[in-house]
Amino acid sequence: MPTVMEKKSPFYPDQPVPIELFVGRENELDRITERGMGQVKQGKSVSFFVRGDYGIGKSSLARYLAWKAETEHGLFPVYAQLAGCKSLNDVAVAILQAVIDAEIYNPKRWKEHLGKFLGDFLGEVEIMGFGYNFEKLRQQAPNIVSHQGLLHFLRAIYTRVKRSESYGIFLILDEINGMASQVDFAQFLKGLWDTNAVQSKDAQVPLLLMLCGVEHRRRALVEAHEPVNRIFDVVDIGHLSMEEREVFFRRAFDSVFMTYELEAIKHMAMWSSGFPKIMHLIGDAIYWAHTGENPITTIEASNGIQGACEIIGRKYFEPNVLHALQSKDYVAILKKLADIVKDSWSTVFTRADLKTKLSQKEQLKMDNFLNRMKNIHAITPTGIKGEYAIINNMIFMYIVMKFSSKEA
Ligand SMILES: Nc1ncnc2c1ncn2[C@@H]1O[C@H](COP(=O)(O)OP(=O)(O)OP(=O)(O)O)[C@@H](O)[C@H]1O
Ligand SMILES: [Mg+2]
Repeated sequence: MPTVMEKKSPFYPDQPVPIELFVGRENELDRITERGMGQVKQGKSVSFFVRGDYGIGKSSLARYLAWKAETEHGLFPVYAQLAGCKSLNDVAVAILQAVIDAEIYNPKRWKEHLGKFLGDFLGEVEIMGFGYNFEKLRQQAPNIVSHQGLLHFLRAIYTRVKRSESYGIFLILDEINGMASQVDFAQFLKGLWDTNAVQSKDAQVPLLLMLCGVEHRRRALVEAHEPVNRIFDVVDIGHLSMEEREVFFRRAFDSVFMTYELEAIKHMAMWSSGFPKIMHLIGDAIYWAHTGENPITTIEASNGIQGACEIIGRKYFEPNVLHALQSKDYVAILKKLADIVKDSWSTVFTRADLKTKLSQKEQLKMDNFLNRMKNIHAITPTGIKGEYAIINNMIFMYIVMKFSSKEA
């Protein structure tokens, strides 16, 4: 076992997963690789919207694809994080930053083909990847703030990277939240797409454009400028399967030479409910609690699950709940819901069941309660009328532990 100072957890609850621990998503990867990268390589531009709930793994997928694009498919990846962007100028800065940061994928090639061009563009003698001056980026951003400006810039990059067998550009715009409902952003995307499409074949930039976001941001984007809807093919990402979860836990523990009982792995996989973020929280709790050389046992797995459940409650659930369920009546309803799901030991419950347990006053507030629980992503309708499910096993366990008055 490494000493305390040397210990490094292979779990990343708050960051996109490193390439070597990325699991699953085979269908989505195949689709984007074949229908996206394959087409772009032949000169045809393609565009996707990767849609999935908070924390389901959109950014991890995007980063993994960026890596694959550069190392296996001959596309130059530009992974731009738009978190915090409020204007097209901010978007332009994020794209410039992403072009410079693309050095990490292939430093030698980047330096040979882009170092000087970007240095000239930004008015610096030489750009050394991460060593850029943020102020200079801000000064040059207005040059690419229009869709024509960006297209011109991407074409300049493409003509350079093409010399070393890059067949196109993979532009990823992740975390579009702050920009999604802005009309000028939606028009900018549509303008970029259409203007590129009407160029002569030689002047076109083979472009794989990928946006990542939750459904309501996609809707906001489309509402801002309806025609933008036509350019995207939507790729949904959801829960990981039991098998994928088990592969993940085994791979992560193997990577730090920790052994485990197979039952323990199954336990972790089951309780994570296929939410990648929860897998990392569970794994991390177990990693730090385990001592000695023995395999990780099911009991340790259960303790880790409980630890992760506490963190979810404290960090992700409670602040929202306290905000959303401000009245005593709502908390009283939650307690009754906790008793129901504890009795049935199931995440699924019906509106009718809940209603029978409530006082008349509480019944009047029940639908509001259910809506608020939906809005904070604690429950979701199952599709059967009047039936809901607590969103995952960890929230289920947290609600039972914290709010049920029933004896174990
Ligand atoms: N395919 C995967 N394999 C292993 N871990 C993953 C995978 N996808 C995501 N994760 C992990 O799940 C968590 C959430 O991932 P990520 O940040 O990519 O999600 P997201 O959908 O972009 O979230 P947000 O909605 O907050 O932007 C992180 O801890 C990440 O390391
Ligand atoms: Mg993300």
